[in-house]
Amino acid sequence: MSAAMTTFARDQDGHATLGGTRLSTLLEQAHVPTPAYVYDLDGIERAASQLKQAFGSRRHLIAYAMKANGAGSILRTLRDAGTGVCLVSGGEMKVALGAGILPGRMVISGVAKADWEIDMAISQGLYAIQVESLEELARIAGRARSLGRQARVGLRINPGVEIESHSHIATGHDAAKFGIPRADVSAAFERIDASEWLVSVGVSTHVGSMLPTPKAYVESATAVCEIARQRLASGGTLEYMNFGGGFGIDYGPQAADAPTEFAQAAVTLAAKHGLDELELVVEPGRSLVGPYGMLVASVRQGKESPARRWLMIDAGMNDLLRPALYGAFHRIEPLERLPGTKEWRVVGPICESSDDFGTHALGELPERVVVRDTGAYGFVMASEYNGRALPSEVFTKNGTVVHTSPSPGVDFWVERRLQA
Ligand SMILES: Cc1ncc(COP(=O)(O)O)c(C=O)c1O
Repeated sequence: MSAAMTTFARDQDGHATLGGTRLSTLLEQAHVPTPAYVYDLDGIERAASQLKQAFGSRRHLIAYAMKANGAGSILRTLRDAGTGVCLVSGGEMKVALGAGILPGRMVISGVAKADWEIDMAISQGLYAIQVESLEELARIAGRARSLGRQARVGLRINPGVEIESHSHIATGHDAAKFGIPRADVSAAFERIDASEWLVSVGVSTHVGSMLPTPKAYVESATAVCEIARQRLASGGTLEYMNFGGGFGIDYGPQAADAPTEFAQAAVTLAAKHGLDELELVVEPGRSLVGPYGMLVASVRQGKESPARRWLMIDAGMNDLLRPALYGAFHRIEPLERLPGTKEWRVVGPICESSDDFGTHALGELPERVVVRDTGAYGFVMASEYNGRALPSEVFTKNGTVVHTSPSPGVDFWVERRLQA
């Protein structure tokens, strides 16, 4: 991702800025306690618009994977920029509907959808229910029959493609629980065609996350194109092809190609296969929001031990799970001045050794730090583990705060535990 696509910068006095305004100023305006996620809605809007432009006149649907960040302010921003959503639960569907996204612009994936989620997807008339197994197909047909309404189904296929990524975010290989194995695809189409309650509308895949280049994306999308061609050649119905998400972002050590390059590769591939009549769907999550959110934490104290110099901050793995979950790296910098050369091992207050954000050159003991590129898979994975409050969220536009969602506070957790 190019530097122009991230909205984090430093002003001439070395203060960290987001969308052109000092983060310290935004936090003052917001009046929320740290740890706090601060988002740049303009950056998110720009990322969506640029991606849209990369499709040119090609008929397409950008189905934002809202699992990355389902905040209402973000969904409404993306809705206005013309995106739909990719859902993985009925809870997400309720939020997306509440944010004014049209059901005809929603697809739902998930290996084991609940009956009520299938019912809701059918009743709302979603663009597609993406089926992940023959077993699930039978369940969907049963739900459609009992509702007396046809279900629009897409087949999420498992293309059998290995990607170079953390094993927890690779989903398209033979041993993954996701998708219909290629060997079962013909049987799946036969069962759809034989059922009066199912309509075949699409073929999809999602091969995994954090792809640095479109190579593996094109490989898995090629499998989708081959299946789509066979399906159309046999006279079967199909409205869309969905190549999934997974466009990588620049977390620091390794840059990724821009999302627009993935889109262009998708358009070129579809044309090469003569499939321009089908709608082209993509499901990016991380790349639309990741670089446009920052987690600001206060420093509680340093600690010198024989082996290490620690920096103990008020954000923990309960606020940002990615480092503990995937061994992920996020750049951490002082908020108020330029980073120096003195190194600190940055850790949170949680009683787990994995509550560790790695070593960072921060200079002299800072008062506050910013954990960069935390707009995706940040707040959505936050928990109250160790009796902690969920973090605050701050939404900015034109360099000013437009909305806040303050932390509910520890007492909220205390009350619910006592009632349990
Ligand atoms: C089905 C599906 N689509 C899209 C995505 C979005 O992936 P990313 O955030 O890497 O773009 C995911 C996330 O893993 C997913 O499970």
